[in-house]
Amino acid sequence: MIYFDNSATTKPYKEALATFIKTNEQFFGNPSSLHQLGMQADRLMTEARKQIASLIGGKPEEVVFTSGGTEANNLALKGAALANRQRGDHIVTQQTEHPSVLNACRQLEELGFRVTYLPVDESGKVSVQELKEAMTDETIVVSIMHVNNETGAIQPIAEISQLLKGYPKALFHVDDVQGRGKVELDLDGIDLCSLSAHKFHGLKGSGVLYKKEGVKLSALLSGGDQERGWRSGTENTGGVAAMAKALRLTEEKRVKSVQEMRGIQQFLRTELERISGVTIHTPKTGCAPHILNFSIAGMKGEVLIHALEEQGCYLSTTSACSSRQKKTSTVLTAMGLPAAVADSSVRLSLSYKNTKEEAQTFIRVLKEIIPKLTKVQR
Ligand SMILES: Cc1ncc(COP(=O)(O)O)c(C=O)c1O
Repeated sequence: MIYFDNSATTKPYKEALATFIKTNEQFFGNPSSLHQLGMQADRLMTEARKQIASLIGGKPEEVVFTSGGTEANNLALKGAALANRQRGDHIVTQQTEHPSVLNACRQLEELGFRVTYLPVDESGKVSVQELKEAMTDETIVVSIMHVNNETGAIQPIAEISQLLKGYPKALFHVDDVQGRGKVELDLDGIDLCSLSAHKFHGLKGSGVLYKKEGVKLSALLSGGDQERGWRSGTENTGGVAAMAKALRLTEEKRVKSVQEMRGIQQFLRTELERISGVTIHTPKTGCAPHILNFSIAGMKGEVLIHALEEQGCYLSTTSACSSRQKKTSTVLTAMGLPAAVADSSVRLSLSYKNTKEEAQTFIRVLKEIIPKLTKVQR
């Protein structure tokens, strides 16, 4: 099997799984319980929080555990908008955000907020100048992702942080779900930042919202005031401990794995460019090392995905959450691509586990498949 769908999800580290099992076997107490088992679980949460904070460059009190990236994005957007409503009603984001940001914004529009969805250029990047022009006295939240999940395009986060220092009323949220462990991010100037464990070899169902000290949020889940009241609900201790382990391993491997993924990505890009009819949609510069989005003229992405799967190669069309809905990629159409090209696109995404040999096999398989599929589709 060649697994090239790591932006959809990654295979958990064996160590993270072992931590999850050990935590659930030995430290299964509820962290809120007053007895010994509860205290042990609470200590484990404290340790994991400290470790994650130090790995991302924040303070332990700034780490809010969530059920993943979707919840972190919803809490950031809706929580910040609702808590700061008396200061303004305007939100700025951009058109190629993940649906968990875009749909949260749409819900906020239903509640009376105004949202500006900035366009992107043909490489998928937002213009800092256009962001500046969109800012008003009423802007309370700006949400711009770090790395796009379909194309790997990196947004100019440092420049935006710099710009937003001139707008103290506006909170800056960054969805770093695809960037963590692949593209460095300095939290300076960022108020809210979302992470998801299953994208860095942790387990599904755990994530983090980094919330800078002093930032006001309205909680979306009311209950027993866990997570200092920001996110009620009995803590997923096993998932959190596994996430801390996965993040540490990811950071330890980062420099080497980024270099290796970059090499494989470059090899694939060069080989794909030689194949007639292939267009690559991941920008050449300013892209993450693990994603390569391409299309083959006249060939539906879905058909190609299934043909590749028959040969043991696993990829996605668009993002994993949209691919089953068979919708045209709004990310690629926002970049100015016609719907037919967007419908032909496939996303290949790497992890530290992939090898150059797998990439070579993939190219060989692809070259064998294309003429067969072209015949069938004629
Ligand atoms: C950029 C981005 N943000 C948010 C999410 C949602 O994360 P989760 O699957 O943890 O809910 C994803 C998942 O694909 C993503 O790629």
